Amino acid sequence: MITGARREGARWPRPQFLTARSDGPVAFSDSGWRWWLIEGHAALPARTIDHYFRTGDSSGITLLREKAAKSRRFYRIAPTTLPDSPHYFAKQMTLPPRKRLGALLGRSNPLVGYSHGTAELSHNLALNEQTAHGVRAFAFGEYFRGGLPVQQVLLQEYLVDWQPFDAVWKLHEDNATLRRTLLLQFFDMLVSLRDTGISHLDLHPGNVMVSPDLQAPLRAIDCGQMSMEADPAISAALHLGVFLHELNGKRASPAPELEDGACRLLYGLVGAEAGFATAERLLPLLVRHSTKKPFSRRRLLRHKPDKLKLDAVEKQLHKLSQRRRLPAPAAHAPGIASRQEQRLIASLDDMVTAMR
Ligand SMILES: Nc1ncnc2c1ncn2[C@@H]1O[C@H](COP(=O)(O)OP(=O)(O)OP(=O)(O)O)[C@@H](O)[C@H]1O
Ligand SMILES: [Mg+2]
Repeated sequence: MITGARREGARWPRPQFLTARSDGPVAFSDSGWRWWLIEGHAALPARTIDHYFRTGDSSGITLLREKAAKSRRFYRIAPTTLPDSPHYFAKQMTLPPRKRLGALLGRSNPLVGYSHGTAELSHNLALNEQTAHGVRAFAFGEYFRGGLPVQQVLLQEYLVDWQPFDAVWKLHEDNATLRRTLLLQFFDMLVSLRDTGISHLDLHPGNVMVSPDLQAPLRAIDCGQMSMEADPAISAALHLGVFLHELNGKRASPAPELEDGACRLLYGLVGAEAGFATAERLLPLLVRHSTKKPFSRRRLLRHKPDKLKLDAVEKQLHKLSQRRRLPAPAAHAPGIASRQEQRLIASLDDMVTAMR
């Protein structure tokens, strides 16, 4: 038993992955927070943030960012009792009422929502276990009201000095070698997702972290939406499309060479799959259009490729793009690549050549 922690009775029916793989729930104080400890050393950082929630004493806690009317907060935790302790990353989320039951039961569906903390934890664990591209999760905290979780905290390994892919990409506009390495690393990640049948569903360049050691595998974060039931070809098209649409500055009229480059990568990934022909027609649409809500990426994955109505998908994406009235980047002349886009195309060519 962890010193100073009180074991809580199993008052709620909780998902099996949580009860089987972690020690908990335990309470460290009367803060109202209950903790599931996935790794033994997690008691220290969990206790540190629990103390902060109870007292407001922020020693050892740095609030990194606060988002969307306080529904999410991000912290760095550096426990002060052990100065040599590693740092930890914590993501705190407030659950809207609709998602609370799903979070309690560990269920994801249209009624109870998908991306609550329970789903994110389960996906994080799966990604980290099955690939080299996940982030270690150490503990999970919950605050209940009326029998349902209303807040959750995911406590993870802190990626020290790592940066989001888009930030590194922009910083090294003139470094073709580095950009080739980044794209090759990204391709390795897609291979790994394909081999494990994982669809991230929000793999934009801000959700891909790059190590200061460029040889280290990239890590995918923000796994709340992840799905394990998808056609491999459609899933690969979605990964590539979402990523390249954003890396290309969300241009509504990408150069044909970019779409060709994307399709070559798709071929390298899933050329042998039955769904490739459909995925190859789908990918240019995804490179061209934003697939953010209200578009449902999940719905794309639900169909078998031969049942996917691409004309309807195109119509819907087009309509949504017009409604969004994208600012500056969309205003480029159609078909004429910007300098930025030309460089992206050149980097894609370069990496395909390096892979041969
Ligand atoms: N384990 C980690 N270690 C260090 N920094 C991290 C870690 N996980 C995430 N971050 C940083 O926190 C940011 C937000 O994380 P995440 O993407 O999970 O949340 P989010 O709610 O989607 O926020 P955003 O919409 O800004 O991406 C990331 O862009 C990254 O810079
Ligand atoms: Mg994110």
